[in-house]
Amino acid sequence: MRIVDTPEAMQLLSRSWRHDEQLVGFVPTMGALHDGHLSLARAAREQCDRFVASIFVNPLQFEAREDLEKYERPFDRDCRLLREAGCDAVFAPSVEAMYGARTTGSARPARTFVEVEGLGGVLEGKTRPGHFRGVATIVTKLFSIVGPRRAYFGEKDYQQLKVIEQMVRDLFLDVEIVPCPTVREEDGLALSTRNTRLTQDERKAAAVLSRALHEGVALTRGGERNAARLIESMRALCEAQPLVDVQYVAVVDSETLAPITELDDRPVRALVAASVGDTHLIDNMAL
Ligand code: PAJ
Repeated sequence: MRIVDTPEAMQLLSRSWRHDEQLVGFVPTMGALHDGHLSLARAAREQCDRFVASIFVNPLQFEAREDLEKYERPFDRDCRLLREAGCDAVFAPSVEAMYGARTTGSARPARTFVEVEGLGGVLEGKTRPGHFRGVATIVTKLFSIVGPRRAYFGEKDYQQLKVIEQMVRDLFLDVEIVPCPTVREEDGLALSTRNTRLTQDERKAAAVLSRALHEGVALTRGGERNAARLIESMRALCEAQPLVDVQYVAVVDSETLAPITELDDRPVRALVAASVGDTHLIDNMAL
């Protein structure tokens, strides 16, 4: 497995693979890998000739500097896990390489950004303005460096997945986005790098998010068609947990993320976000 730290070297390597007609897969990450990330790696390994994973903690998508600094960076462990997963190259550039030293006051900082209107401003985007602009911008840069045929994203970050799909369509990017199912702990909690920050009590309480979503699924199967009633039931379950501070419970069109009032035949998604202690958690399921 190669470890590549400059965009130029990564472009050369993946160009040589494409020249040899190898199908290149790509798994973008911010590192601190867990089984959720590794499920994407396994899918890429199975479906592609070569696969690249990136590890880059993207400052542009963080609101608070503190959150960015707190982000775990166990680089050697991540590389070992990726090697075991059959990864061909890890792309781990510096902030300077990706943004022309925006943060260190270089004379030539990056000035081009990608914004997905509408989709990027709702749900998570409401409380984290600039977050999806940061995600869309870095993913565009990574795509143009790695030049993958397929790129793998987790449904865990459902809004992110939809933002990326819209961006790929709008910009005619020549890459197929492959959605991968959410990997969960035994009690249903979606795996997340942030879970390690939960205290024991918070960790137990956090499982209510997925229980509430399952309840939403069950009620829908039982014939409930009214979104407000579904939201109310899911919210009530979450709020019964004193350690869980609900930010939103939403029932939306699976593609446009527009709120739904009555469920019909269109695919619908339920999404929840909550603070558990100081930790922001999100989860979602198809209804
Ligand atoms: P990160 O949070 O490291 O996640 C990398 C990928 O792993 C994302 O596609 C995410 O949806 C997926 N993932 C995380 N937890 C998962 C789980 N429990 N089950 C399945 N997939 C899961 O998402 C990002 O990084 C960044 O925003 C990035 C796309 C790399 C841009 O900076």
